[in-house]
Amino acid sequence: MSEHYSRHQDAIYLAGLQGRRPELELSYQGLKEQARRKLRPSAYDYVAGGAGTEDTMQANEEAFRRWRIVPRMLRDVAERDLSVSLFEQTHPAPLLLAPIGVQGLLHEEAESATARAAASLGLTYIHSTAASTAMEEIASQAPHGPRWFQLYWPRDPQLTGSFLERAEKSGFTAIMVTLDTRYLGYRPRDLARGFNPFLRGEGLANYFSDPVFRAALPAAPEEDAEPAIRHFLENFSDPSMTWDDFKGLRQMTSLPLLVKGILHPEDAQIALDVGADGIVVSNHGGRQVDGAIGALETLPAIRRKVPDEIPLLFDSGLRSGCDLLKALALGADAALLGRPYAWGLAADGEEGVREVLLRLLADFDLALALSGFSSPAQLQASDLKREGAAAD
Ligand code: FNR
Repeated sequence: MSEHYSRHQDAIYLAGLQGRRPELELSYQGLKEQARRKLRPSAYDYVAGGAGTEDTMQANEEAFRRWRIVPRMLRDVAERDLSVSLFEQTHPAPLLLAPIGVQGLLHEEAESATARAAASLGLTYIHSTAASTAMEEIASQAPHGPRWFQLYWPRDPQLTGSFLERAEKSGFTAIMVTLDTRYLGYRPRDLARGFNPFLRGEGLANYFSDPVFRAALPAAPEEDAEPAIRHFLENFSDPSMTWDDFKGLRQMTSLPLLVKGILHPEDAQIALDVGADGIVVSNHGGRQVDGAIGALETLPAIRRKVPDEIPLLFDSGLRSGCDLLKALALGADAALLGRPYAWGLAADGEEGVREVLLRLLADFDLALALSGFSSPAQLQASDLKREGAAAD
């Protein structure tokens, strides 16, 4: 039996008996607003915003509303085990922290606070290439925390190799390569402020600390940031690369390699054919292609292409424990939490992230039990009903 996350609910009520109310807002909107009050407007908009009209960002959340859980009664749910296994790693719950870059915009302790919060719960923290903190620092801040590295695949293969080598040396146990960000999406909120953190040298800690990256510069980034930023912009990605090149990337690491940003079932198939070990269904939280399909909408069709033994992760729009239950029922083995923990970080640093995670897991644990299940593996698509579908 794993920990019963529902106990976190008991703890909140017990604190209430002693006159203590939770400081962090309970609702997603309330939490977002609480974070907004602490942030520079440009930082808030950078996190809150999406591409174009933000239609896809909205579609992600709406897709969850279209599915309803059909709870089952009088099943034994007293002992529950929420753990799942991915690449022979046991995760205490089917939840990982999505890679979110430039967390220095949100809190002075940035990714270190997030990694420590995740580690305190045994959850896997996924470190972005575009982070405010170098990956070696994460390893020293949360040495026992399970961690994966998200790769923005650079143009220069030597830099790619260096990132992969550093990640492996620093204890990251899987690589998640993000395929949907060959260019930055068209984001009106950031455009309106003329705000791009990378042009200001923010979110480049992994680059600025890299020996291959540094060797190509006329001066150290600490002394002259401008050529370093230019070198980053030239090397961030190579939009001419194709699935053929992916085979080369596959050869560069022995760690499990997942692809993030898959929305079309055929792409899932191609990814597996060229050697991907796992798939992450995601539209980057609606930050890249405005008008793209809500991520949950495409999950069932992708699951049909991905054999059971291959990890399939869901990302984009997850806000609650019930959302997590739905993603699992529709075929995900685990899901990534994004913006909600970012707001927790902005509102209250490490403790804010930890609280957001604990609440989501309490909500999930209770939703699972109250719907008649004692483990994620029991969930099936037939436990959900699509709104508007004919009643049986
Ligand atoms: C992201 N995301 C992201 N993804 C990635 O692969 N590398 C990155 O560096 C970032 N950076 C980033 C910054 C910010 C501010 C946000 C909001 C998102 C995307 C992230 O991993 C995930 O796909 C989305 O956050 C999922 O959408 P929701 O659930 O947060 O709306």
